[in-house]
Amino acid sequence: MKKAVSVLDIVEKKGKERIVMVTAYDSTMARIVDASDVDIILVGDSAGNVMAGQKTTLPVTMDQMIYHTSCVTAVEPKALVVGDMPFLSYQTGVEEAVRNAGRFLKEAKCQAVKLEGGQRVIEQVRAIVKADIPVMGHLGLTPQSVHAFGGFKVQGRGEHAAKHLVEDALKLQDAGVFSLVLECVPLNLAREVTSALSIPTIGIGAGVFCDGQVLVIQDLLGMSKEFKPKFVKRYANLFDGIVEALDTYATEVRQGIFPDDEHSFLE
Ligand code: KIV
Repeated sequence: MKKAVSVLDIVEKKGKERIVMVTAYDSTMARIVDASDVDIILVGDSAGNVMAGQKTTLPVTMDQMIYHTSCVTAVEPKALVVGDMPFLSYQTGVEEAVRNAGRFLKEAKCQAVKLEGGQRVIEQVRAIVKADIPVMGHLGLTPQSVHAFGGFKVQGRGEHAAKHLVEDALKLQDAGVFSLVLECVPLNLAREVTSALSIPTIGIGAGVFCDGQVLVIQDLLGMSKEFKPKFVKRYANLFDGIVEALDTYATEVRQGIFPDDEHSFLE
């Protein structure tokens, strides 16, 4: 039987075993993910994109994240569940950050939270960690900063930007994060950050040298026809598989093949 994964288990994997994380936003998917060998379920604010059809994660609210995270924890996954703090739930100040992080554990019953940014949110990270709420950091292409970045662009290119990112990573580690997501950064910068830290890095679009990997589940299962950035590898083609199943269903209903006796109450 699968053992429950804790934050300490994740930290201890550094240098021994690579960490596998995927997103999930509902109980059906959480159950499927937990039947696999995945270590961490991230209830990402990418819910705004893949569940709500928004172009950015900016409209996502705390209540929506509490709802999605509660749906995931309802099936009591053995994988560690991390709730993603949405835009303006922590940037506004320390007190609001701690209260909102606390809601994830108290109401949504996950084990940790993730938030984006380095130095500029360091006081919030310290305060949340001080409240005994484990925090996962997130640097590089942090999607809540899309407008400040001028679009979804690779970050940390060039000496100055790279140095800044390494400094932010060290500050986050010092503030107490238990792991760090690196999104869309050059692979050699990810290698430098990974070897500079004693906590694990989890990459997305950050190459092979991170201590782990994360993908949005709809991307890795091939559930979208259009969205295929360079860093996504599709491990299934569920879009076509589901359309095929639905077409078969439609044909059988129209031709009177389904429902047959096997799927009817004969008395
Ligand atoms: O919201 C999300 O899914 C994320 C991952 C892509 C890291 O932040």
